[in-house]
Amino acid sequence: MSKAQQGTAIVTGASAGLGKIYADRLARRGYDLVLVARRGDKLAELADTLSMQYGVQVRPFVADLSRSDDVERLADLIRDDASITLLVNNAGVSVPGATTTLDPADVAWQQAINVDAVNRLSLAALPQFLARNRGTLVNIASILGFGFLPSSTFYSAGKGHVANLTRALQNEVQGTNVRVQLVAPSVTATEIWEEDRLNAMDPRIVMTAEDCVDAALAGLDLGEQVTFPSVEDAQLWKNFEEAAARLMQGAMSGKPASRYLAAAHA
Ligand SMILES: NC(=O)c1ccc[n+]([C@@H]2O[C@H](COP(=O)([O-])OP(=O)(O)OC[C@H]3O[C@@H](n4cnc5c(N)ncnc54)[C@H](OP(=O)(O)O)[C@@H]3O)[C@@H](O)[C@H]2O)c1
Repeated sequence: MSKAQQGTAIVTGASAGLGKIYADRLARRGYDLVLVARRGDKLAELADTLSMQYGVQVRPFVADLSRSDDVERLADLIRDDASITLLVNNAGVSVPGATTTLDPADVAWQQAINVDAVNRLSLAALPQFLARNRGTLVNIASILGFGFLPSSTFYSAGKGHVANLTRALQNEVQGTNVRVQLVAPSVTATEIWEEDRLNAMDPRIVMTAEDCVDAALAGLDLGEQVTFPSVEDAQLWKNFEEAAARLMQGAMSGKPASRYLAAAHA
């Protein structure tokens, strides 16, 4: 596709990690870019590099997505700029810790960025994409949206929300040209990890940000709705989906399961 046809991609969290690689790969594919993050200096530097390297237009958009006024400013841009054809909701933070040790303010901050901003920006983008019958929404969740570790309680809860939201949105856009992809990375070497924690891990379970984004984009090109960049056995996801569908169906019985009736009458 020519540059003019690709349109503009918005990448949140583009100053580092996966977002920075998304910015590079999308610029290489000919997208003009809007790069969102708090660190304007990093965005400006990246914008210069990418526009020079790939000849695309790159606009830094400094915003703190934990602030609703900044999220709203970005939502306005999404609504007003008809050139936008792709939104990558990538910005994210991790506040690890057990419930007994976590500060509720930190949990609310994580929720604002990882969940509330994703809701708001998805709500801004999809109606526009549907009205034009064109556009792609990519939401970055995590394998921890499908499970949890002792220290990931609220992070997992938020990523579970993003996973379910994105699956449900896919249902809504069925039969249109609008695409919605859920990406669920596993451990990837980025700034989101404390260096000591990352260094203590078995290097065999750690992916590079480049590999993660390249796999996610390959999944998009292959037409996948859900991409697990590091999961070799694709059947695992099919089994998961089938089990979830069977559970939903099993819940539609309209009466208490016999084991509860038996227990209630014991
Ligand atoms: N790395 C992993 O192991 C892993 C695994 C699964 C899922 N993920 C998910 O992948 C996504 C990208 O994470 P990453 O690993 O690339 O992390 P990262 O290297 O820490 O980068 C996070 C990006 O988000 C931006 N960001 C953070 N807080 C923000 C805020 N309040 N407002 C605007 N931007 C903000 C940061 O920019 P500024 O600091 O400049 O604002 C940065 O560009 C996240 O959603 C994360 O949950 C990561």
